[in-house]
Formats: sequence, C-alpha cells, structure tokens
Amino acid sequence: MATFIRTVYWEDDAVVFIDQRLLPDQERYVTTRDYREVAAAIKALAIRGAPAIGVAAALGIALGVANSRAVALAGLRREFDDICRTFAMTRPTARNLFWAVERMERCFRLITAPLQSGPAAGGIRTAFPPFLARVKKALIDEAKLIGAEDIRINKQLGTYGQTLIDDGDHILTHCNAGALATAGYGTALGVVRAAAEAGKKIHVYVDETRPVLQGARLTAWEMMREEIPATLITDNMAGFLMKQGRIQKIVVGADRIAVNGDTANKIGTYSVAVLAKVHKIPFYVAAPLSTFDGAVKTGKDIPIEERSPEEVTCCRGAILAPRDIDVYNPAFDVTPGRLIAAFVTEKGLLYPPFRKTIPALLRS
Ligand code: MRU
Repeated sequence: MATFIRTVYWEDDAVVFIDQRLLPDQERYVTTRDYREVAAAIKALAIRGAPAIGVAAALGIALGVANSRAVALAGLRREFDDICRTFAMTRPTARNLFWAVERMERCFRLITAPLQSGPAAGGIRTAFPPFLARVKKALIDEAKLIGAEDIRINKQLGTYGQTLIDDGDHILTHCNAGALATAGYGTALGVVRAAAEAGKKIHVYVDETRPVLQGARLTAWEMMREEIPATLITDNMAGFLMKQGRIQKIVVGADRIAVNGDTANKIGTYSVAVLAKVHKIPFYVAAPLSTFDGAVKTGKDIPIEERSPEEVTCCRGAILAPRDIDVYNPAFDVTPGRLIAAFVTEKGLLYPPFRKTIPALLRS
C-alpha cells in the first residue's frame, strides 16, 4: 500500500524533516526550532535532493526570522540577510536552493515595501511589533506554499512524464529523485509513480549510486514502500544490462539545467547518458522549472560541489581504501543536452533543440 512520504515540512512553529542519512535502517523525523540545524542538515545530506533542499531552505529562512528578537524592521532585515546567506552557502550546485532563497527575498521585499519608502519609512528604525509579526507570518506562509507547490508540481510533471512510459517497460534511474528528494512524490520517481498509478506494469532498475548510495538506500526504500517492482544494481552494471536489452527507458532528476540543456545531476549520470546513446535508449530528465537556470548558458558554468574524501574511502563506518590515498570526489557531473531525449517539466515535455525550447519555456 502506497503511503505518502513527507520529507520536510512546517509543523507547530518548527521544521520537521526525515534524516535521510539513517535510511533505510531507521525512519527518524527530527523537529527543530533552530534554523542553523536545518542548514547543517542540508550540508550533511540529512536533507538532500535539489527540490527538497530548496523547500528546506525556505522553511529554514522562515524559522530563523520567526525566532528573531529584532524590534525594528532594519534589524529584522539584517538578520534575514544573514540567514539567507547561511542557506545559500550550504551547497553550490542545486539551482532550486538559490531559487528558493530568491523567492523568500522577493517575499520580504514585497511585504516590507510600504515601510521602505514614503511617509512610513521611519518604521524601518523604530519598533513596530504588529508589522514585524506580519512580516514573519508572510515568510512562513510563503515557505509553506513553496513546499505545497512542490508536491503539486511533481504530480503534474508525473502526469506528463508517464506518457513516455510504455506498459512492460524496464526503467533505469540513477541516484534518488523521489519523494525524499522533494517535498513529496518526486520528479524522476514521480514519473515512475504516475506510470504505476496509470496501471502500467513497470519495473525499475536502481543504480546504487556510489559514493553516498542514494539509489541503494533511498530509491530502493521508496520503491519497496510503494510496492513498485525494482531491482538494485551497482553502477558499473548498467552498461551490461543495456546491452542485454533489459532497459527500455532511463529517467533521472536534475540539480541544475543550463539554457542549452546541459544538465548537472548526481555523479555517474553522464556515464549512464553516454551508455544510453550507444544503446539507443531514450534518456529523460524530469525536473521542475525551478531547476532551470536562465543565467547559465552551458554546463561549463555550473558550479560542481566537491565533497569530502571520506565519502569515497569509507562507507557507513567501514574503511574501503588505504588511509591517506588521494581522492577526488565531485558530487555531480554534467550531461550534455545532446544526450537528452526530452525534459519532463510541470509545463509539459520539452524536446530539442533545447537552445530554443528552454528559453521559450522560461519566458512562458
Ligand atoms: O547529493 P544529492 O543527494 O543532493 O544529489 C541529488 C541528485 O543528484 C538528484 O538526482 C537531484 O537533486 C534531483 S532530485 C529530484
């Protein structure tokens, strides 16, 4: 029986999130009233996946402002800016994080606009508790809305995406672009869920996704909960399965998409896309519009996060490599747009030439 997985949300003046580091062994929800704990959770991958990071940042910003002791707007504005900076520094690659911070900034600007100019401008420096309470409430409402919208967008994206999936398809996915990577339902796994909900008999191959094992720990867990048939493979098996004709479609998520369609996603995605091209298997990317970066022309300009060597040399306490071996650990790679058959978005399917279709979508 499918149960809805809630990844990160607002409840009783606190942010609640499932600690994804503990999955699949433990399902532990953390409740916090400290925005720094939300930021730390993003850094440590307790909350991960581009849309989930964006939602968590918005909720974290609302939480920080809600607990501010500032007695005037100017003080609240300073704290707000500091909190936004804290979140913007957590992880560099996911566009959704910066999109969410920018949306919270716009909300702050709009609600405080009447006090920023005109005869009421003195309110910036003077105590005005009812107005500050209004600002806080507006930010909480905006953050909650970002979370609710994310779930709605994923479902919409799923209904478009499932049209690409045929009855009997075996679908390969890399990393976790599921409910856990969003506020709920998922992007790539949203497509899978929607196909299953439409009554299609599908089966999912789950790349384990070294080094952090988002596939093995999280996607496998989600598929089992949903009772969607799934088989776990190690990353280096995907090519062989493609050659054997066992995979008909590939669907992954994205962290940032450039204007020409170049797409940053979990390390290993590029290899899967190259293999898909060789084996003539359609490679689809499912992502909300908030993952597209209109300011980034090509993948070369996407910042790629490098994470700690320990993620490669150790695995859940086990030592896998000689101590002090040199390690390179980029968390993401960039798949060129020319390897992508289509993007699945909440506004529909997007086909090449992406240089034309993406700007048109972002303008719409
Ligand atoms: O390092 P992570 O686990 O945050 O990386 C997540 C991914 O790469 C996902 O595929 C991507 O964010 C899309 S999630 C809908």
